[in-house]
Amino acid sequence: MKEIAITLASLLAGALFSGCATRSASSRTADGKAAAPDSAPDTNWFSRAEWIGLDAAEAGKKPRYLRRDFDVGKISRAVLRVTAQGSVVPFLNGEKVADEYFTPGWSNYRKRLYYREYDVTDHLLQGANMVGAILGDGWFRGRVGTGRTNAYGSRTRVKMELVAYPKTGDPVRIATDASWTVATGPILSSDFQDGESYDARLEQPGWCQPGSATNGWRAVDVGRPDFEPTLVEPHPCGPVVVVAELPARTVEEPKPGVFVFDLGQNFAGIARLRVKAPAGTEVKLRFAEMLNADGTIYTANLRGIRAMDTYVCKGGDVEEWSPLFTFHGFRYVELTGLPGKPGADAVKGLALSTRMRRAGTFECSNPLVNQIYSNAWWSQLSNYIDVPTDCPQRNERLGWTGDAQVFARTALYNADAAAFLGKYVDALNDDQAGDGHYPDVAPTVMCGGSSPAWGDAGVFIPWEIFRLTGDLGPARRNWPKMKRYMDFLDRSAPEGAGPHRGYGDWLAYGPQPSKSLIFTAYNAQDCEIMRNLADALAKVAEGADEREAFKADSRRFAEKTKTLRDVFGKTFCSPTNDATVAGDAQTGYLLRLGFTAIHDGVTDARHAERLAKIVAERPQQMCGFVGVNLFLPVLSQIGRDDLAYQRLERTDFPGWGYSVAQGATTIWERWNSYMKGGKFGDAGMNSFNHYAYGSCVQWFYEGILGILPGAVGQPGVHPFSTVVIAPHPGGTLTWAKGSHECALGRIAVEWKIEADEFALTVELPKGVRGEIRLPGQTAVKVQTARKATYRCPASN
Ligand code: BGC
Repeated sequence: MKEIAITLASLLAGALFSGCATRSASSRTADGKAAAPDSAPDTNWFSRAEWIGLDAAEAGKKPRYLRRDFDVGKISRAVLRVTAQGSVVPFLNGEKVADEYFTPGWSNYRKRLYYREYDVTDHLLQGANMVGAILGDGWFRGRVGTGRTNAYGSRTRVKMELVAYPKTGDPVRIATDASWTVATGPILSSDFQDGESYDARLEQPGWCQPGSATNGWRAVDVGRPDFEPTLVEPHPCGPVVVVAELPARTVEEPKPGVFVFDLGQNFAGIARLRVKAPAGTEVKLRFAEMLNADGTIYTANLRGIRAMDTYVCKGGDVEEWSPLFTFHGFRYVELTGLPGKPGADAVKGLALSTRMRRAGTFECSNPLVNQIYSNAWWSQLSNYIDVPTDCPQRNERLGWTGDAQVFARTALYNADAAAFLGKYVDALNDDQAGDGHYPDVAPTVMCGGSSPAWGDAGVFIPWEIFRLTGDLGPARRNWPKMKRYMDFLDRSAPEGAGPHRGYGDWLAYGPQPSKSLIFTAYNAQDCEIMRNLADALAKVAEGADEREAFKADSRRFAEKTKTLRDVFGKTFCSPTNDATVAGDAQTGYLLRLGFTAIHDGVTDARHAERLAKIVAERPQQMCGFVGVNLFLPVLSQIGRDDLAYQRLERTDFPGWGYSVAQGATTIWERWNSYMKGGKFGDAGMNSFNHYAYGSCVQWFYEGILGILPGAVGQPGVHPFSTVVIAPHPGGTLTWAKGSHECALGRIAVEWKIEADEFALTVELPKGVRGEIRLPGQTAVKVQTARKATYRCPASN
């Protein structure tokens, strides 16, 4: 069944609930302005439905099956709205309403609860119908982070309302209430980290079909939710869906009766089991990203979580099953418990991710670079499951702010990720601390806050969204809280230079700049971003007062940027003019040169020279999370594409190509998560699917292809309405091609080096202006043609 197309205004709208009282929805458009009132979603349904569930102690944490039968006559349209304190799969007349997972997503459920709305017109029958749901623990009360349970509450509840509009007469409303019945079923337990257990012998076929047996069903428990949410809103982005099916490539038997399936790709998702075995056969599936030397699965990096699905066969024909309320991070599946050897079709991988439009492509003449691109994309898919997470496999899977921030630009080129990241920005603001600092993970279930480069996600991500899509919504609706964060930074650094705190240049290989330097650089760039955002917001302000307020903000942040630039120079840049940035570490220079707020126009060239020297002369060193997204762009910016390509293409450690040479199919957490000869990195922190280092891909678009937004900062004008095309050929590449599809259409670039000629073909959407900058040429050509080729001597 199809999900109702939700208008932009409705996506941004919300209704406020206090207890069960509702206020009318307030709507905003993409630039944050008020929307027409009739475009607001119907959130009143939430107060018409009641919370229902099952509290019986003997049911434990088994997912609950809930249902209600009803009759309708001829209808013209029907809509189903669904939310939960837990994770819910809605059913109608024996079928899942949608192939979606983990509804209603992850948020701070106390402050903001999402719901989904489906058009179910085609699935209602004239006469008897049955609506139902299976309710699992989800993030609400299942294991999250390092093993915490009941993070939001101890009771699962669901709310639904089905509205059928007859051809004539009043709508028929079937909302959750005391008339629903509940039972437990074949799902015995389910948890993101533990996995799911299912006993097919307990199935009640047709449990959600009209007229099915009623024995074992009892009255639901009504009401008594752990709390009522403050805000109820339509979910702002796509659902979690199956984005790829991965058949097994090989099946090995490293020990008798232990079968290991290789799906050929690391990913986040579930396995679909297909077996034929006698009733009562218990099949166990365990999941891993890597193999030990003896061919068994490597699970040490899961840090002790169970990550196992169990299926008990009902016997008879071939049985097919996949879980509903869990996912794993894996490439290999271990299967035990089957009599006999399973065929390769016994296990198939189903990759899960938030549904979004793919917006980018990239390909070049070096297959290694293509694999890095693919690895970053798979790590994006794997970690974009409703919340941008650090990793999908171990007992963490949290919305780490630093990781999300450094990867945001890459993500926005790769996919239409603005709504997804906008939701994340709201989560960050919902969990802002009383003193104004942003948490390290959002939604916050553990860990502290205020680490430089992590907390700054609250400023950087709204900016990245605006910079690439023109959507000012996240900044506009969170502006007062963003300013509170800036006040917090002011209080933390009264002298200007920041305190030593946070995670530093996380997992750097070699020297790091001081935490105080990272703080100060980020604080300065935050100010620069806030000034740019304030300028843009002033242009769309409603009325003179608001406009003046934004202008005052802009002045405040402009002044503060200047102050911090001086502080940075005086504190961290050598007064003896020896051209070093304090610490003489890559990331110190990368911040200094990559953050426009701290350019001084005087020492920039000397620092550029020093950076190039240490990159060239210390090949054994590599920056960590804080420097990584700046590494390639800054080397390009200072005219050292040669060094950028060297690091990208090298297959020894530490370079981007190293993991690829070891067979990686996703981005690793560490530069050395796995070492030649079968040695694994420290299992305490060793994910093979961590996208932070995949942020190099922003340079594939903006550097190798050279696609850059040319109209940033003008609300109402799309940032790509002027496109700068400035490719940086280099390394071993003889050609590269790729594209970015923005709201205006597809921007495509292809370049080739043939004999002595560099040929660049550019295709732009209708009406988009292009500024073509051929390598080494100062002349800028402006063109409006839809597709054209430009040439220059390759030696340039
Ligand atoms: C996460 C990282 C995160 C870091 C903070 C780790 O446990 O996996 O990706 O950014 O903690 O230092």
